[in-house]
Amino acid sequence: MSTTTLETQTALNGALNIGAETRSSQPGILVTDYNNRQTVGKITVDHPKMICREVNVYYGAKQALKNVGLDIGINEVVAFIGPSGCGKSTFLRCLNRMNDTITGCRVTGQIKLDSDDIYDKSIDVVQLRARIGMVFQKPNPFPKSIYENVAYGPRIHGMVNTKAELDDLVRASLERAGLLKEVATRMEEPGTSLSGGQQQRLCIARAIAVNPEVILMDEPCSALDPIATAKIEELIDELRESYTIVIVTHSMQQAARVSQRTAYFHLGDLIEVGETDQVFTNPKHKLTEDYITGRFG
Ligand SMILES: Nc1ncnc2c1ncn2[C@@H]1O[C@H](COP(=O)(O)OP(=O)(O)OP(=O)(O)O)[C@@H](O)[C@H]1O
Ligand SMILES: [Mg+2]
Repeated sequence: MSTTTLETQTALNGALNIGAETRSSQPGILVTDYNNRQTVGKITVDHPKMICREVNVYYGAKQALKNVGLDIGINEVVAFIGPSGCGKSTFLRCLNRMNDTITGCRVTGQIKLDSDDIYDKSIDVVQLRARIGMVFQKPNPFPKSIYENVAYGPRIHGMVNTKAELDDLVRASLERAGLLKEVATRMEEPGTSLSGGQQQRLCIARAIAVNPEVILMDEPCSALDPIATAKIEELIDELRESYTIVIVTHSMQQAARVSQRTAYFHLGDLIEVGETDQVFTNPKHKLTEDYITGRFG
């Protein structure tokens, strides 16, 4: 871990008094306890890429997320699971300030990317969203060619100087997204002419073209068939080597296949977080157990 990250983590934990990761009324269960809310499991990691503390989100007067604290580790895939309406997308959107675009939505608390407070006034939100990219549930290619979908970001961020450099970057991004072979001869066709699974990989290519550090995915496979889903899941596993990934999914099999840590949300609370294997085979909280065994949601 870099010194800066360690210092950030230590300072933040000190400031928020998260020294109580072993307090629990039930022996053997680790509970993170602060500000009168409890999350079962360890919310911190040794090598955080993002550190979220006391995150509350309101839509008008309605509170959708309650005092959530969670680290997202470098090069890990974290899955957010939980019943519909529990706040998964809301929390995901907090991580790159997509909630800013929703009228009446208010976010409080602290979210850091490395040592940068992403809600600080000095943060350029466009730059932030290049560092933290997003892939949505429904593939949403721009109404432009396959080539232009990927070239757009690097061009507006001034990442390349020549057409040849841009060509290389577009091809490399499509290659990393596992799509180049399928589109090499149809670069000028509209992005929307691709199949759903190809469109989703195009959106992933578009996200990685600007060299992000974190990729947020909100149910990226829910509109895809099992073969396209398997391709995206393989891709997520490969991308983890270079990026930090957060994925919202309703498929517990998918969470188990692609993630290293899983966070279970319920009615705006982060109920439990832990190693994915542990959460699925040995959930500590009754609500988590009910959900993963199909008794709820
Ligand atoms: N734009 C909005 N305006 C008002 N309320 C909203 C808005 N978006 C979400 N909410 C409310 O916030 C709560 C959390 O919603 P969110 O979309 O984060 O849930 P989710 O866990 O992603 O659900 P799903 O699995 O159905 O996608 C819900 O009660 C929802 O109705
Ligand atoms: Mg959602």
